[in-house]
Formats: sequence, structure tokens, C-alpha cells
Amino acid sequence: MKIVCLGGGPAGVYLAISMKLHNPGHAITVYERNKPDDTFGWGVVFSDQTMDNLRLNDPVSAQAIINELVHWDYIDVHLKGQVERSGGHGFIGIGRRRMMQILYARARELGVELIFQQEFEVDDIRQRFADADLIVAADGINSKIRNSDLKGFEADIDLRSNKFVWLGTHQCFNDAFAFIFEQTAHGWIWAHAYQFDRDTSTFIVECQPQTFDKWGFEHMSHAESAEACRQIFANHLDGHQLLTNSRHIRGSAWISFPRVLCHNWIKDNVVLIGDAAHTAHYSIGSGTKLGLEDAISLAHNMHSGQPVREALQAYQEERELEALKLQSAARNSMSWFENAPRYIENFDMKQFTYSLLTRSQRVSHENLRLRDKEWLEGIEQAFAGRAYGKPASGPVPPMFTPFKLRQMTLKNRVVVSPMSMYSAIEGMPSDWHLVHYGSLAMGGAGLVYTEMTDISPEGRITPGCAGIWNDDQQAAWQRIVDFVHTHTAAKFCLQLGHSGPKGSTQVGWEVIDKPLDEGNWKIIGPSPVPYSPVNQVPRAMTRADMDKALSDYVAATQRAEGAGFDMLELHCAHGYLLSAFITPVLNKRHDEYGGCLENRLRYPLEVCRALRAIWPDPKPLAVRISANDWIGDAGVTPAEAVLIAKAFVGAGADIINVSAGQTSPDAEPIYGRMFQTPFADQIRNEAGIPTMAVGNIYEIDHVNSIIAAGRADLCCLARPHLMDRYWTLRAAAQQEYHGESVRCPVQYLTGFEQLERNLKRAAEIAINA
Ligand SMILES: Cc1cc2nc3c(=O)[nH]c(=O)nc-3n(C[C@H](O)[C@H](O)[C@H](O)COP(=O)(O)OP(=O)(O)OC[C@H]3O[C@@H](n4cnc5c(N)ncnc54)[C@H](O)[C@@H]3O)c2cc1C
Ligand SMILES: Cc1cc2nc3c(=O)[nH]c(=O)nc-3n(C[C@H](O)[C@H](O)[C@H](O)COP(=O)(O)O)c2cc1C
Repeated sequence: MKIVCLGGGPAGVYLAISMKLHNPGHAITVYERNKPDDTFGWGVVFSDQTMDNLRLNDPVSAQAIINELVHWDYIDVHLKGQVERSGGHGFIGIGRRRMMQILYARARELGVELIFQQEFEVDDIRQRFADADLIVAADGINSKIRNSDLKGFEADIDLRSNKFVWLGTHQCFNDAFAFIFEQTAHGWIWAHAYQFDRDTSTFIVECQPQTFDKWGFEHMSHAESAEACRQIFANHLDGHQLLTNSRHIRGSAWISFPRVLCHNWIKDNVVLIGDAAHTAHYSIGSGTKLGLEDAISLAHNMHSGQPVREALQAYQEERELEALKLQSAARNSMSWFENAPRYIENFDMKQFTYSLLTRSQRVSHENLRLRDKEWLEGIEQAFAGRAYGKPASGPVPPMFTPFKLRQMTLKNRVVVSPMSMYSAIEGMPSDWHLVHYGSLAMGGAGLVYTEMTDISPEGRITPGCAGIWNDDQQAAWQRIVDFVHTHTAAKFCLQLGHSGPKGSTQVGWEVIDKPLDEGNWKIIGPSPVPYSPVNQVPRAMTRADMDKALSDYVAATQRAEGAGFDMLELHCAHGYLLSAFITPVLNKRHDEYGGCLENRLRYPLEVCRALRAIWPDPKPLAVRISANDWIGDAGVTPAEAVLIAKAFVGAGADIINVSAGQTSPDAEPIYGRMFQTPFADQIRNEAGIPTMAVGNIYEIDHVNSIIAAGRADLCCLARPHLMDRYWTLRAAAQQEYHGESVRCPVQYLTGFEQLERNLKRAAEIAINA
């Protein structure tokens, strides 16, 4: 085959090597605009697993790289004159220039033609390279080839807000990967620094855009920027300079990171590879790895016996998934750095470091224990000390620390999220509810929620929804509350709601959100806007309707107190009545209850204030919100959610239960593990408001990491509790926890002990396997 590689970075050259290894008969030419020696950048980091992949593909170049790798184990975080060191991180690194020399030499040895100092243009594809069988676009992050047809390659490019510059230095940072945060007159600036050869280190400097502007870095030459950064970080450089080698970047040496993902990597015989197809934020250091592994996969598929088109398609399918996974971790990490000052200002040194180390959500609590047990136990002990308000005698799993709201103390941080059971008749909770909530409360969670319980018959979502609008319902709830209080240590929270525009629909296991086949009742909302084209058009509420709903809320709250609930939550999420007022998707009013956020919040806040006024002072009040409509600026955004949370706290809420979505059928949520937790984090750490996180939190590790990192104060688990009432008891058995924060019913103790023994044995077998 005649193959042309456009771009002589790691991806292009390694592709050439890999193709030659499969078939020495290929004629391969690599075109690179730079000289062989003036490759930009400093070091790159790899993992052991990447090295294994390289070794399997080409033992020769892998060994040459291995011979020159620098290893280091520690991460040092420098902040406000303190250093927090943790170990067991196991990095390996090499200079980019040295790695490229190795790859160039290996490519030449295999007969690849390398042509340097030649800039190619997009037109060359159809002219100069018209006779090539395969054209590999390996031209990096600013790929001319991709950019010439963004639509065809279905490119999704998101230019991030932070600015960074890639520098080098001869300071070596004590065998550690160093994160250094410095406060300057114009805001926080930080460096990601690591040694990559005997006497050189990468030194990436990053800051938020407002700090960049105030410093005037835009107008500095490369040398001036390096000197300004040297002065900022002088205390960490032991007199060394900061060096720049980014002559290829015109103007300021600072750039913004473009997150690139193409959904089509193939056009005729042209295929994208490496940064041209996708990028991974530098803070997780995986860009080079992705490019090299793309090359292995592309070469492998091209020799799988399939026709070229199918082979290219198979390559894309394999690698796009990998890129997406990495980008999801990279997005978390990138967003942590975009908001770094938020964590600097709120956390002490240990929690700040923990938050930094777990930022991508790939490194979990237990993973940190494997890396550095002693350090993690120090974190657990310090966290427990803060939760108890006095020094803890030893480490405690973060999920098993208490949490106090007003006069209510939760024994632990696990919450059974509200879940509609659609099993009430005329709003009456039944024996189903007694067994359901009773067993959930026995399962060990600190707080158990009721399902959304409605303030009026017309406020139900479905005919099966529970209510608390009459005395019989209050008595039925009281029976359940009494069971919970008599037999368990859990606190019990009633979630109060009105369905608004999403009312009169089928139960959850029929067609969710669709109107009933018969027997529909009339629905109300802020505006005559249906939730979806198939839903009823709600009648726009008059002030009299608002007064009626308000008095129903108040009456229901009095009944909640009568039934003995410990806590109350006002449901203002998911497109139901109060949520519909808040979101501009469903609120199109032109009076003082519509338009700007302040107006849209007016009625929900009025309700919140009314409830707080009559709900007993020692008992907490929560508000659940949809922090993101997932439709961009046309709906509620996470930044707006911070304002919403503040407004509810001003109206008497003690904690915000941070959910998202379900306000518009057009929403495009980005799902994943703990996918809504960033919104709880933003509200908690920007506004200083206690929050609950919810959404795809299902592992012990998830809960411990979220709590210890201060992303939220409590974690709500919904679906995991449907299948495992004893989720929290199991978590206690697995972590061999015997403290005060979980109480196994005495009747079940032998089961708990057996489970603990079996889990311990299974863990030992796994370690010895
Ligand atoms: C600050 C920073 C730190 C990073 N740190 C790490 C790290 O620690 N670990 C890691 O794995 N990755 C890291 N990366 C990412 C890494 O540099 C890239 O992901 C990797 O280089 C991608 O390889 P590539 O071959 O696809 O593209 P590139 O390395 O960008 O190579 C593309 C090549 O194509 C050439 N080219 C482009 N257009 C033309 C043209 N028209 N004519 C001729 N030649 C052309 C360019 O000169 C270049 O040599 C970092 C990136 C940045 C910005
Ligand atoms: C069967 C079911 C019923 C639900 N009912 C409610 C509800 O009544 N009120 C509410 O605020 N959220 C409700 N939710 C949403 C959950 O509380 C939770 O936010 C969501 O399921 C995400 O958490 P998970 O990933 O742990 O399941 C319900 C979820 C499920 C699965």
C-alpha cells in the first residue's frame, strides 16, 4: 500500500512504524513541517499499561523508551506555604523530544520515509497525494484536514476558558509530581510540574481567564511570560529559570485548551488519528497515549483482512469509545482546574489535596488507600474530627460520619432518595408502604425519604401517587413513621409536591409521563405550555389558584408534623408545579411570576417561606431542584442553579437536594457515574450551602469520595435501594465498620457477621489471586 502520514508527531510516526511491522512492503512517507529536533513541548507521562501495549506492538521502540523513562511515586501539593505529600502514584515520563528521536530512528530503520520542514496543504490530498491508498491525518490539535471539513468529520470542538502555557525548567521537584498554587495580586495561578529526564521538568502554568487578562499575558512575548511566571513561582524554583520552546505558537505563548471530539473519523481514504480526532486535557496526561494506541489499533485493523472501508470503520468504533471514556475523566479533571479557586478558598490543606487527587473520578477513595494507606487514614481521621467537632481517635469511613441539620443529627451520610411507588389508592399509603419504608429504614441509611407525596388529589402525578391531604392519609403515614422511629435509627423525610403540568399521567411501569387512557383530570401550571406534545395543556394559574395551592401546601405541612416526620422537603425539581415556575421552558408568564429568574422564583419562594414559618424550628427543611435543564442557555443552567439555591436558603431552606433535568423532553443529559454531583459541588462550594448529591451514585467508593472531597454533604441513592434495602449495612460489613453510625437490627446480627466474614475472605482471595 502507498500510505501518506500528514504530521510527524507521536501518532503519525507510530502509525508508520506499526504499519511497517505488519507489512514491510508498504511504502510510507511522513510529512512534518518542523525540523526533527525542534519538536515543541517538554515531557509526556505514561502509565505501566500503556508501556505494556507499546511493548506488545513493537518491543524495540518500547525498550528504547523504557531505557530512558524517569519514574516517580509522590504527588506534592504546595499551597499557602504548606506541602501535602502522598505516595504510591507511580508515574513514568520521558521528554517529548527524546521520545520522538527514538520513534524517528525506529521508523527510518523500518524503511519509513520521513520528510521534515514541509508544510502540507489540504489541497495536496487530491493533488500531490492523489495516488495514495491511505492518507492518515495526524496533524494534531489544530488539524488543517479536520478543520477543512468540520461538518463532514462531525467535529465537536469546545474551547475551554482557562489559559495555560507549557514551559520547562531544570528544577527537579524532589522526585514528585508537583502541583503548586500561588496567590498573586491578580488571582490564583498554578503549575503542574514533573521531571522527565535527568535534569529537566515540564512546568505547565495555568490560570482562569480573568487572572490572565489582569496579568496582561496576552501582550507578553514568550520570554516575558516565562519571566513573569518565574517570578510568581520563584519560591519553588531554587533559582532556576523557566524555559520556553513554543516558537511554533504565534503571539502569546498562552493558549486555551480545545476539547475536540469528532464523530466521523473517515472521509474517502483519509482517516483521522491522535489529537486531530480527539483531545484529552493535559491535566490527565493521556494525549500521547491515546495517539499511540490509535496507531496500534489502526494498523491492526488495516491488516485484519477486511476491506479498507470496513477496517477504518472498525478502527473508529474501537477508538472512539476509548477516547470518550478518557474524555469523561478529562472533563472532570479540567473542570476541577477551571474552578480551582473555589476549592482553595473552602478547604483545608488535606481536603484540598484529596479533592485534587480524586478530581477525575477515576482515582477513588479505595484506590487512594492502595496507593498510600497511611495518608488516606490521616484524611479519614481529619474528616471525622471535623464531623464530630472533636478529634477522632482513628480513621472512620467518611460515609459513616454524622451530619447535623438544625436539631436533627443523621447517623451517617447515606440517604434513600425519594422514589414514587405508584401504589397508593386515592392517595392512601398502604401496607406496601409500611413494608417498603420500614425495610428501607432497617437497611442502615441515615435518612430515608418518602416518595413525592401530594398536597391535593389534582396534584398527583398518577392515580397511584401517595398524598397527605386528609386525616386518614396522615394517620397512615403516622403508622409508618412510628415503625421507623421505634425500630430503626433512621430519620424520615417527607417529600411534598404538586405535579403541575406533569399531572394526570400513567404509573411508572406503564408509559411514563403519558396521559391516562381514560379518567384524566384537569391540570394546572404557570403557563399553558404542555410538558410534551402528548401531554395535556395545563390551565395557567391565576392568583386564586396560587393561593389554593399555597394553602394546600401549608395544610399538608401541618399534617406532616402531625404524622411525626423528622424533616420536610419541598419538591421544586423535575418539571412538577414549582419546578415549572422556575424553568423558562414551562414558565412563559408575562406578569411578576414570569420572565427573569427573580420573577420565576417568586411563587416557589413564597411557598417555601410559608412552610418554614409553620414547620417546627428544630426540624430541617430541604428543597429539591433541577440544577440543569440540559438544554443549554434556553433552560436553567448550573450557574443559575447557584442563584436558585441561594434564594431558597434565603427563604428558609437548610439544604439543597441537587437533582437535574426532567423539565423538558428535549434535554440532552450527559450520563455517567455520579453525573449530577458536579452541580451539588458547585452549589456547595460556590455558595457555601449544604447539598445532597444524587444520580448514578451506587458504589461505596462513590459515596466516600464525594463526602470526603466535600462535593456534597449527603449522598442520595435511589435505584440501588430498590434492589438492596440493606445497601448501607452491606457497606458497613464490607468496610468492617462497627461504630455508632450504623445499627444492624439485633434480629439480623448473625447475618451481618456472616456477610462481613465472607466479604473479608473474598477480599483476601482476590488479593492473593
Ligand atoms: C501543555 C500540554 C501538556 C501535555 N502533556 C502531555 C502528557 O504529559 N502526556 C501525554 O500523553 N500528552 C500530553 N499532551 C498531549 C500531547 O502533546 C498530544 O496529545 C500528542 O502530542 C498528540 O499527538 P499527535 O501526534 O496526534 O499530535 P501532535 O503531537 O500535535 O503532532 C502533530 C504534528 O503534525 C505536524 N503538523 C501539523 N500540521 C502540519 C502541516 N500542515 N504540515 C506539516 N506538518 C504539520 C505538527 O508540526 C506536529 O508535529 C500535552 C499537551 C499539552 C498541550
Ligand atoms: C422508581 C423511581 C421513582 C422516583 N420518584 C421520585 C420522586 O417521587 N421524587 C423525586 O424527587 N425523585 C424521584 N425519583 C428520582 C430519584 O430520587 C433519583 O433522583 C434518581 O433515580 C437518580 O438516582 P439513582 O441514579 O440513584 O437512581 C425516582 C426515581 C425512581 C427510579
